[in-house]
Amino acid sequence: MGSHRIAAIPADGIGPEVIGAGLEVLRALERLDPGFHLDVTHFPWGSDYYRAHGVMMPEDGLDALRGFDAIYFGAVGDKNVPDHVTLWGLRLAICQGFDQFANVRPTRILPGLTSPLRDCAPGDLDWVIVRENSEGEYAGMGGRAHRGHPIEVGTEVAVFTRAGVERIIRFAFETARSRPREHLTVVTKSNAQRHGMVLWDEVAAAVARDFPDVAVDRELVDAMTVRMVNKPRSIDTVVATNLHADILSDLAAALAGSIGIAPTANLDPSRRYPSMFEPIHGSAFDIVGKGIANPVGAFWTAVMMLDHLGEHENARRLMAAIEHVTAAGIRTPDLGGTARTTDVTAAVVDALAAVPA
Ligand code: IPM
Ligand code: MG
Repeated sequence: MGSHRIAAIPADGIGPEVIGAGLEVLRALERLDPGFHLDVTHFPWGSDYYRAHGVMMPEDGLDALRGFDAIYFGAVGDKNVPDHVTLWGLRLAICQGFDQFANVRPTRILPGLTSPLRDCAPGDLDWVIVRENSEGEYAGMGGRAHRGHPIEVGTEVAVFTRAGVERIIRFAFETARSRPREHLTVVTKSNAQRHGMVLWDEVAAAVARDFPDVAVDRELVDAMTVRMVNKPRSIDTVVATNLHADILSDLAAALAGSIGIAPTANLDPSRRYPSMFEPIHGSAFDIVGKGIANPVGAFWTAVMMLDHLGEHENARRLMAAIEHVTAAGIRTPDLGGTARTTDVTAAVVDALAAVPA
C-alpha cells in the first residue's frame, strides 16, 4: 500500500532479539508485496546508552522520533539500572511526550495454545484491554520528604482529569463497538478510591449515553480478577486505569497461554504524534542471549502496527502466518516447546508465503 517510516528502539533485555525477529518477518512481507515498504531507522537507546551517556535517550530524542509513522519498541529494564530510571527515561518519556493515551492490549488464545484454565477453549477468551496510558497512578505526581531519616515519606498521587478519563472511555466504547459482541466492562475501585474512581464511574455513565448500542457493565478491579478466571466468556472489551490495566493485562496474558505472546499499542488516536508498538513481556533477564525468547509477542505487535499504518491486508496475512505456526506446534519453551527464536521466526517467514494474499 505504501512506504512507512519506522523508528526501531529494541532497547534492553530480550528487546533486541524479538525486535530483530519482528523486522525479519516484516522484511519477508515486503518481499511478498512489492507495494509495501518500511523505511526502518534504528535508535540505540536504552540501558547501554545510559551507561555510556548518563541518559536513556538524548534530550532531543522526541524530536528525532516525531517525523516517524510508528515506533517499534522492544523492552526497557536492566539488572543494574533502577527500573524507575529506565522506564521514565525512555518508555514513559515517549508515551507521555507523544500523548499516547490509549494503550490497547488484545488477548486471546491462539490456535494450538492452551489456557492454564480448565475448560477454556480458544473462543472462550477473546478480550481487548484498553489501558489509560497518560495519567492515573503513572502521572509522576508525588515526592519524597525527610530523605534518609526514619520519618521519610513518599507520596504517589494518582491523577484523574475529566478530559483524560473521558477520552479513554470514549476510545474504549469505540473499540467495543468495533467488535462483534459490542460489550464493555468499566473497571474501577470506586468503593475504596472515592475521588478519582468515582469520577471514572460518573464519566463512564455519561459517555455510555452516546453509545446506546454497546452493552456496558461495571466491575471492581479485585472482583475483575475473579471474573477473568471464573467467567472468561463474560468479558469482551475492558477499560481500566493505567495501573489496574497493567496488572489485569499480565493476568490476561498468562490466562491466554503466555506473556510471551501478548502485544500492545500505545496510541495517539489523534495521530498528531507517532504511536508506539511493543510486546508486553519486558526485558526477561533470565533468558537474555539464550536464543529462546518468544518472538510471537513482537510479531503480533507488528500486526497491530501494520493495522495502524493502514496495511490491513499485510496485518491479516502476518496474523494468519503466526496462527499457522502456533497451530503447528512450533513453540518456544515458555509455551512448553523446544523451538528457538530463530525457528519460530523462520516458520513464520515460510508460512507467510503460503498465506493467500
Ligand atoms: C507494561 C509494563 C510496564 C508498565 C513496565 C515495564 C514498567 O509492565 O507495559 O505493562 O508497567 O507500564
Ligand atoms: Mg505490565
